[in-house]
This record gives sequence, structure tokens and C-alpha cells, in this order.
Amino acid sequence: MYDYGSSRFIVSDGLSIPQPAAGEVLLRISGAAINPVDAMIPKMLVKFGVMRGEAGESYRVGVDGAGVVEQVGPGVSGIAAGDRVIYHKPTLGANQHGGFAEYSVVPAAACVPVPAAMDDQTATAIPCAAWTAYQVVTRKCNVRPGDTVLVYGASGGTGSFVTTFCKAKGASTIIAVCSAAKHEYVRKLGATHTIDYKTEDVVARVNEITAGAGVRVSVDLVGAESFRKCVSLTRFSGVVCPAATPSDAGEFYKVLTDTGTHSKALTVAFVGFGGGHGKTDGSREEMMEIAKEATNLIADAALPVEVSKIVTLDDLPAVLDEIASSSTRGKAILLL
Ligand SMILES: NC(=O)c1ccc[n+]([C@@H]2O[C@H](COP(=O)([O-])OP(=O)(O)OC[C@H]3O[C@@H](n4cnc5c(N)ncnc54)[C@H](OP(=O)(O)O)[C@@H]3O)[C@@H](O)[C@H]2O)c1
Repeated sequence: MYDYGSSRFIVSDGLSIPQPAAGEVLLRISGAAINPVDAMIPKMLVKFGVMRGEAGESYRVGVDGAGVVEQVGPGVSGIAAGDRVIYHKPTLGANQHGGFAEYSVVPAAACVPVPAAMDDQTATAIPCAAWTAYQVVTRKCNVRPGDTVLVYGASGGTGSFVTTFCKAKGASTIIAVCSAAKHEYVRKLGATHTIDYKTEDVVARVNEITAGAGVRVSVDLVGAESFRKCVSLTRFSGVVCPAATPSDAGEFYKVLTDTGTHSKALTVAFVGFGGGHGKTDGSREEMMEIAKEATNLIADAALPVEVSKIVTLDDLPAVLDEIASSSTRGKAILLL
């Protein structure tokens, strides 16, 4: 729940277990990945007046979840009590059910079966970060064998999966930008070159590595300034992917207008995995295809999934307060 006055989250143990409606399932949550957007959405709901602090209004935080199906609602088929599933479902209104809870009601169509060989921690870390990364690599940037890719912010949750999937899809040059302490980690994921953004000139180093040619694909997971560098380092007719959630959209669009994206014939690949869920135009089915493909690839190819931090419900308020300034390696997850 969200306390409007202090910007703190309150973990409450007095709520009733929700019931699944038609097309929904009730999950007993075993864990949930913690994503930067979990701290952003409640603040946005308050800022834009979606939630007004009225009596009885609550917000259950957590766009991701992992758990076991406890009960299926009317009309649900293909999923049964006892199944292990993971999901990603942005909760953009009051009184919706997020994953940071013991129980959550979720559309059956949003659930992805956890492969039998996959352990719970690995599965919990996957949804938002891995599925977005897979959308970036396979559907938006079409990374292919021999590609040169720049991953700016490669050591975080989403950046780690982008790096891993780029390697899985055969990219031959993967340049990872992150702090020096994580260089060994990103090399294990598949980075062929590493740059410490704190002590090195990123633009000069990428030009040195690519002999001035630049990269075909660049993925930015940090913000407007790094996105500016990505655009300048992407070669003619390449793809730039601004995957970071902009804190200032105006600043971001300014980058597009002053960096010659048009004259370089760049493709600007926007991503947003969760937005497809509310749609009835086939977007949800497309997102679920991505989710299942990514999850099965991780299981079948035994791709690395780093869970660097495990927290409890009691830890969550502090973890969410600090998420914008934290220096995550891989994923932080909640386990119940
Ligand atoms: N559009 C979508 O659907 C979507 C989906 C997922 C994520 N996102 C967005 O993508 C961004 C990253 O998400 P995430 O899940 O990877 O976050 P995360 O797990 O918190 O990782 C962020 C990483 O960025 C690194 N970093 C910070 N400043 C940096 C800089 N100046 N240069 C290079 N690296 C820097 C930090 O590692 P170091 O210690 O190496 O600095 C940190 O580990 C967020 O803005 C998030 O909202 C968007």
C-alpha cells in the first residue's frame, strides 16, 4: 500500500485474499523481481491524480510475480491449480493487485509456465527485465550473428539480460558500459569489451574498439546523456534503443533532434513490454510469445541469471526508496 503523506510504502497484513474473476487466476506468490518501475508507478499515480488518498483506496506494488496457481476463475483453461508460473503485469490503477503480496489475482493470459528444470529464484528474476531485454534484442534491434552492439548500463537487471541475449544471438562484438567492479561479471555474460563510464571516455573507447566505424546497435539503459552518446556511436542505418525510463521526456526528445538521427537514417526502437497487456489488438499475444520464447531459451540454453540480492517484505520500503540510486548487479528479488 502507498502512504501519500510520507512517500513510504506500508506492508499491511490485514487484507483479505482476493478472488479470481472470469479469465483470472489466484496465485500464492512465492517471490517477485524488484524493478525500478515499482518505485516510479505509485508516485506517478499520486502525481497524476489516479489515486487521491480516499478511504479504502489501496495500491499493491509490484509489476512482476512468481507463484503457484491456487484457484482458477470461470472460463480459464490451459492452466490449473498447482502450476508454477511467472508474470509481468503493470498495475496502473488503484485497488489492483501487485506481486509484492502473499496472494495476487492475475489474468490467466499473462501467466507463463515455469520450465520444470528452472529453480524458483531464477524464474522469479525473469519477467520485466528478461522479457523486455528479449524484446529489445530479438524484435526491436534484430541482433544477428556478427553484429556489433553497445550496451550502456550493462550490469543492471535489464542490461545483464540484454548482454546475455546478444551473446546467445551471435553478436560478435558486445561493448558493455558499467562500473569497473562489474567488468568481470559482464564478461562472463558475453561482453567482449568493457568500459568504465566513471573513469574512461566512453565515446573515445568505442571509437577505438570499432576503428571509428561505430556499432550497428546501441541499447541505452541509463538516461538522456548516455543515450546521446549511443546515438553518436551508432553507425549509418543502425538501431538505437532508448530503453531507460526517461526522468525528463523533453530532454530525451532533444537528443533525437540534435544528434542527427534523421540524417544518419537511424531506427529508434522504443520498448515497453507491459503496455501490451491492456490491448485487444494482438499485442498481448505478441508479448506473451516473447515472454515464453525468452523463458524457454534461458532454461534450454542454461543462460546465466544473476540474483545478487534477496529481500523480504519487511525490507521492501527501504529497497524501493533506494532503488534509483542503487548499483544493482543482475536482479534483486523479493522472496516470501
Ligand atoms: N521500457 C521498458 O519497458 C523498461 C523495462 C525494463 C527496464 N526499463 C528501464 O531501464 C533502466 C534500467 O533498468 P534495470 O532494470 O537494468 O535497472 P537496475 O537493475 O537498477 O540497473 C541499473 C544499472 O545502471 C548502472 N548505471 C548507473 N549509472 C550508470 C551510468 N552513468 N553508466 C552506466 N551504467 C550506469 C548501475 O550499475 P553500475 O554500478 O555499473 O553503475 C545499475 O546497476 C531503468 O530506467 C528502467 O526503468 C525500461
